[in-house]
Amino acid sequence: MATSGRITIHKEFKIGEIDPRIYGSFIEHLGRAVYGGIYEPGHPTADADGFRGDVMELVKALDVPIVRYPGGNFVSGFNWEDSVGPREARPRRLDLAWKTTESNQIGLNEFMTWCRKAGTAPMMAVNLGTRGPDEARNLLEYANHPGGTYYSDLRRAHGVSDPYDIKLWCLGNEMDGPWQIGHKTADEYGRIALETAKVMRWVDPRIELVACGSSGRGMPTFAAWEATVLEHTYEQVDYISLHAYYGNLTNDTPGFLAKSLDMDKFIASVIATADFVKAKTRSRKTINLSFDEWNVWHNIQNWADFLPAPWVEAPPLLEERYTFEDALLVGCLLITLLRHADRVKIACLAQLVNVIAPVMTVTGGEAWKQTIYYPFLHASRYGRGIALDLQARSPQTIDADLGPVPALETVATLDPESESITIFAVNRGAEVIALDTNGMDLTGYRVSEHITLTHPDLKAVNTVDQPNTVTPRNNGDAVIREGGLLAHLAGLSWNVIRLTRTA
Ligand code: AHR
Repeated sequence: MATSGRITIHKEFKIGEIDPRIYGSFIEHLGRAVYGGIYEPGHPTADADGFRGDVMELVKALDVPIVRYPGGNFVSGFNWEDSVGPREARPRRLDLAWKTTESNQIGLNEFMTWCRKAGTAPMMAVNLGTRGPDEARNLLEYANHPGGTYYSDLRRAHGVSDPYDIKLWCLGNEMDGPWQIGHKTADEYGRIALETAKVMRWVDPRIELVACGSSGRGMPTFAAWEATVLEHTYEQVDYISLHAYYGNLTNDTPGFLAKSLDMDKFIASVIATADFVKAKTRSRKTINLSFDEWNVWHNIQNWADFLPAPWVEAPPLLEERYTFEDALLVGCLLITLLRHADRVKIACLAQLVNVIAPVMTVTGGEAWKQTIYYPFLHASRYGRGIALDLQARSPQTIDADLGPVPALETVATLDPESESITIFAVNRGAEVIALDTNGMDLTGYRVSEHITLTHPDLKAVNTVDQPNTVTPRNNGDAVIREGGLLAHLAGLSWNVIRLTRTA
């Protein structure tokens, strides 16, 4: 049985320009993200620098404009100086965040080489857990100052003559969380973030800075934290961060697929809080949002149960196996980010390789794609340009804590040059939706593709041996008829409908 849905689409209903950096990702010194993930000297596909070529290809296809580095919780105990210079002299250290041993064989210079090869740019985080403004300004001098000073000359002595000109910097990580090394109150963090921002801008005024917001909407300090931190830092920072992970440990599919409403509410609340501080301080400036950690993560509370033993080097950690259902939620979350394209200017899928990741590797073996790889790939590839606000009508699935949940989660993007339009839609209901459109006359458009991701088993996963269990197909039935779009969206499906102008 089919139910009906309708979207009102018009190219003048603009939400805003999509900043490509919303398709960012994240590599932390955690588990096998770096060692055994992007870097595995001796692997059959490894290049002269030890970077895995198979991983590089899968990452390049995702076209991630930025990759956050080196953490995460890891950064709050990290001494960046340990990870530059001759490799044999680099110290091995206890990483207190993940209870592992860090060999420091990959550091800033190697990561920058990987970024160049992968066609991406770093989003660097500085340590405001155990360290502060002094370390941050020195790192920035090392990375961005041309030469003639201690740290810029140290970089040159390490074989890098030109400065990196790294633009985007995070002022610490999740400083509101009691689990964080060097956890702080909002006032303590606001003060150190302000002083760090000041000196970093003095070293390089062209950088952009992200202040830590809350680690989640459920944090007891949420919103008060953002207000206090921004009251301290408003004129010195450009973005406030948001982090959110969603899981389904109770196996409640409708409730799980409704979690994008939580992300939506989270974004709206942070915008309101940032704008409250703007009003209070009579500022002319607007703070935008950096959703620099988001994903599905089921075992967030009990990750330590999977730790083989403490102080192991690069153990498999947080290696979630993503189901088809998880891919549907990732699709809903991507649509939600696009629906806030006017204020969310940066977002990082956390993470990229092996650790809660779309790309997985076998040490010495294959690299393969998890289910969540596909919605991210489609959004990154086709979701560029202008985000369009679709007024959508569809049946309700459930009444969740956050209100009624529509079966249809949808947004469209417009390429302003070619005027091609892409509609992204998740049908989170079990029944087929017979979809039509009104608003814009679509005569002169044709459906060039209707990609779908469906599977009869919500818990289906890809594995290294069966990597194509959940893969997209160009098999949807969308057509343009009498100036409108008609399509059937299968129950529980991800859809990408691409409309291009006919000659
Ligand atoms: O992405 C995994 C971890 O989740 C990050 O290190 C931390 O910032 C968050 O709690």
